[in-house]
Amino acid sequence: MKIIIDTPEKIAELAAERYVELLNRKPNAVLGYATGSTPLGLYAQLAKLNAAGKLTFKDATTFNLDEYAGLDGTHEQSYRYFMNKNLFEHIDIPMENTHVPSGTDTAHAGDYDKAIAAAGGVDLQLLGIGHDGHIGFNEPGTPFGSITHVVDLTPMTREANARFFTSIDEVPTQAVSMGMKTIMNARQIVFIALGKDKAEIIKKMIDGDVTTEVPASILQLHPNCEVFLDHDAASLL
Ligand code: PGA
Repeated sequence: MKIIIDTPEKIAELAAERYVELLNRKPNAVLGYATGSTPLGLYAQLAKLNAAGKLTFKDATTFNLDEYAGLDGTHEQSYRYFMNKNLFEHIDIPMENTHVPSGTDTAHAGDYDKAIAAAGGVDLQLLGIGHDGHIGFNEPGTPFGSITHVVDLTPMTREANARFFTSIDEVPTQAVSMGMKTIMNARQIVFIALGKDKAEIIKKMIDGDVTTEVPASILQLHPNCEVFLDHDAASLL
């Protein structure tokens, strides 16, 4: 892991440069995207660079990490809706090239890995981290060999995400997520964590053992992973 500590604004710029480098070298790259508050600065930057003609997504393909079980793509809290509103509608990617796991047809979740492989595998995977160390929705205890699967969300994750719903009862109890192996198969990873509330888990992820109890700790073993942290998230290192 290469660790880069900077301001959130600079992190968005630096992370966006990775997309410029990749898409200029490989216009039909396969991009793994993430949801949550963390990537919003980067997504705004990608839209800005796209509008300025610095990069194009017209031949790219995307695969998102996860989706809530039970929500279809028109639901305002679905991750499909999030991606459309926060990125896809602001860049020149053909909508049919974008993929988010189905939240309603969860019986064949593992087929998502086959679709990723058929597209040539993920070139650049973007990741955030949950307070319990999850990446995607892979909660503590998820086997490192897992592929895309249905997961039970922990109370901590449901509480953290309740801010987007009118009450915690509305937060789905399950999700579909790329597995740990799916994520580790990506050729390059851009990981971002912002804010003091992530400092403790970042310390465990970087300085602790590689363990399924801290899913993100597996990134210590990835050959090409950059970890972008703001000063708050890095404050316990
Ligand atoms: P956040 O979520 O970006 O909203 O903090 C990250 C995550 O849960 O993976």
